[in-house]
Amino acid sequence: MRPQGPDFVYWRAMHDTRTPASTGSKRLYIRTYGCQMNVYDSDRMADVLTAHGYAPTEDIESADLVVLNTCHIREKAVEKVYSELGRLKNLKARRRAEGSDLMIGVAGCVAQAEGEEIIARAPVVDLVFGPQSYHRLPELVARAKTAHVVHTDFPEEDKFEHLPPPRREVVLARGLTAFLTVQEGCDKFCTFCVVPYTRGGEVSRPVAQVEAEARQLVAAGVRELTLLGQNVNAYHGLDKNGETLGLAGLLLRLSQIEGLWRLRFTTSHPRDMNEDLIAAHGDLDTLMPYLHLPVQSGSDRILKAMNRRHRRADYLDLIARIRAARPDIALSGDFIVGFPGETDEDFAKTMDLIEKVAYASAFSFKYSPRPGTPGAELPDQIDDRTKSVRLAALQDLIARQQESFNQAQIGRTLPVLIDKPGRRPGQIAGRSPYLQAVHAEGKMSLIGTIQPVEIVSAGKNSLLGKIVTLE
Ligand code: SAH
Ligand code: SF4
Ligand code: F3S
Repeated sequence: MRPQGPDFVYWRAMHDTRTPASTGSKRLYIRTYGCQMNVYDSDRMADVLTAHGYAPTEDIESADLVVLNTCHIREKAVEKVYSELGRLKNLKARRRAEGSDLMIGVAGCVAQAEGEEIIARAPVVDLVFGPQSYHRLPELVARAKTAHVVHTDFPEEDKFEHLPPPRREVVLARGLTAFLTVQEGCDKFCTFCVVPYTRGGEVSRPVAQVEAEARQLVAAGVRELTLLGQNVNAYHGLDKNGETLGLAGLLLRLSQIEGLWRLRFTTSHPRDMNEDLIAAHGDLDTLMPYLHLPVQSGSDRILKAMNRRHRRADYLDLIARIRAARPDIALSGDFIVGFPGETDEDFAKTMDLIEKVAYASAFSFKYSPRPGTPGAELPDQIDDRTKSVRLAALQDLIARQQESFNQAQIGRTLPVLIDKPGRRPGQIAGRSPYLQAVHAEGKMSLIGTIQPVEIVSAGKNSLLGKIVTLE
């Protein structure tokens, strides 16, 4: 997954707020933390509850049910949830004083990891439920009206079979680009990571199920799909004829859907980047030239301690093969600094790897020891000051690389999928194939189209261009 920075909180307008809540319906507010899969899941929770009489709202003060969809990846992410619960405690008290009530649910990876402990630490919570039980939400909410409910079992049934598809107007209100989870969970057990515990083992959705969801989204107006999975390139879904399709096969299948212009996927593990998938980056026009391929460290010693099960040279070789298939590809990655035992020399190897790869963007984090993971038990934990110094140096290097990648687009004409109004009046905004934000002067009626945009200037985070009028 593309992780969000440490201070990032994803506020999600849950759906078309122009549609007033029908009288008598209860109001739902969902706040999403963490990765894109949580964003996708929050939408699915909203869909399931909408079908049971809830109307999404963006105003937390008026909500009858607040769901925090949480992230457990680093300690800070968890602390954010508890401070939000502190604020919600006050809101609930105010609501009770007014003679109404507020139900508070905790979903996502903190729910899965901490279960009962959440209610022990924050008794204001009525309902705790893990990522595999979202389809049971109406029943869980009904039970939580009378007693605390904690549901963190992994149900037998396939939740995706039981989640209702979103209504057409809801899809439209969410925008031209959409996420679609195709794979969930992880069997890799990197020694720093909680995901195999919070999301469970690796499961791929069947091809027909993914295809049906993609077709629904496209029929409603979605033009770009990002396939999601904790290890999306380990996808191996069953086809109708009993054969297994890898991610490259799935992308090929989806690229045949008329009206679907762009495909992306995230997050990949270097070990699952097979030849078919590398070739797809050269062969499939709909597959955008952007790849998020986390390496975490450039030191073999640290990679081994992290249980990444590949070496630095394997990663560099892989990058060379990907670039041979698609020379202009924008590469992105994740890095952890200060993993236990990381020396200055190890860190220098990470910096050297970054120099060699030249990323278009990257996410980087200080190592956070997570309860229950092997990394937390290792000797030689690194002090926070050293982590801060290394993180600053690494982020500085990445920022320079990102800026030069953006600068390199000046003078080029890029196809931009225009998807919203720009920051300034008269401006529209969209994304380049490399996932850069692009702003240009243009009419609102261009939203929903791909336009050729000549890039005239570039900053660290976005490009400015002018739409080239075709004769
Ligand atoms: N499946 C994805 C990772 C999801 S977690 C993958 O393999 O790429 C997203 C990122 O968070 C990871 O790539 C890693 O860089 C970071 N991360 C995970 N656990 C962490 C920890 N304990 N401390 C700091 N960063 C961590
Ligand atoms: Fe976590 Fe590693 Fe699995 Fe990614 S591959 S989710 S970092 S255990
Ligand atoms: Fe995503 Fe955070 Fe869970 S990164 S998978 S929400 S721990």
